[in-house]
Amino acid sequence: MSPTGLRQPRFLQLYHEDRAALREELAGGLLATPARTSPKYLYDPLGSRLFDAITELPEYYPTRTEAALLLMHGAAIAREVPKGATLVDLGAGNCEKAARLFGLLQPARYVAVDISVDYLNNALQCLQRQFPALDMLGVGLDFSSQLTLPPEVGEGPRLLFYPGSSIGNFTPEEALVFLRQVRAAAQGGGLLIGVDLLKPTDVLQAAYDDALGVTAAFNKNLLLHINRVLGSDFAVHDWSHVAFFNAAASRIEMHLQARRELTVRWPGGERRFAQGERIHTENSCKYALADFQTLLAAAGFTRVQAWTDERGWFAMYWAQA
Ligand code: AVI
Repeated sequence: MSPTGLRQPRFLQLYHEDRAALREELAGGLLATPARTSPKYLYDPLGSRLFDAITELPEYYPTRTEAALLLMHGAAIAREVPKGATLVDLGAGNCEKAARLFGLLQPARYVAVDISVDYLNNALQCLQRQFPALDMLGVGLDFSSQLTLPPEVGEGPRLLFYPGSSIGNFTPEEALVFLRQVRAAAQGGGLLIGVDLLKPTDVLQAAYDDALGVTAAFNKNLLLHINRVLGSDFAVHDWSHVAFFNAAASRIEMHLQARRELTVRWPGGERRFAQGERIHTENSCKYALADFQTLLAAAGFTRVQAWTDERGWFAMYWAQA
């Protein structure tokens, strides 16, 4: 409670950046063949803004399809999930998606998780004014490497919420490891997860290579982020955005392709790139409806249910832990 008697959100920062470890991981990826970088480098402050812009593009269907799906099936979903649970929002950002569900899901507590509580501060303060009775906690955690929720999240069943098909940015093998951790963290509650489904290739391709070039800017901005972390000298204009559907792996792949032969240097290392050589920057896996259900079952979830939009492009799954 604040001196005014009004409830205040609590914050807990558990992730602490280890710059030396990040530099080592980055250099290792750049020296690999083919070169690769973690998709987390897409999200510096500008990258997060560019991603927000992507969600408004006509070609990028996932965000609006998921929102429409939740509107259409919200009541049915709410009948399945436990009331009065602790709603744990993974990758909460501006907390908007979860907040839209408060009325339907009636959580006893809201826990917003993101890499830094700085991202959550404003959103949680605003939400607390709108929902003064709801207990709110912001947790700064890098859950992509290990999901262990702190004791402050409290006892009782938890409803983990992972929308936006962010699960697609893991490979299926990584997703299975992550989903097992989610199940353990749910304490007898469950998982509500948004998943992008397979669809015609031209639709997928356009969503990741839009006419305005916003996704290209999002991808190339990763180089500026890496320059700051690693001290490297990537020049953005030397690189082209490449996005394509890899049907064998059922995923969109994003790459950056060298426009000429060049050498990138950083303190303690360098990498020569031939013209046309690529850095693999992101996977976005697309699932068949039944295949993701199988993955949830393999992670130990039971009573899996799914709702889709009328085109069958996106699915929301409820899976009991
Ligand atoms: C955050 N994630 C689910 C997005 C996706 O669709 O894989 C990131 C993205 N990459 C390019 N456009 C959007």
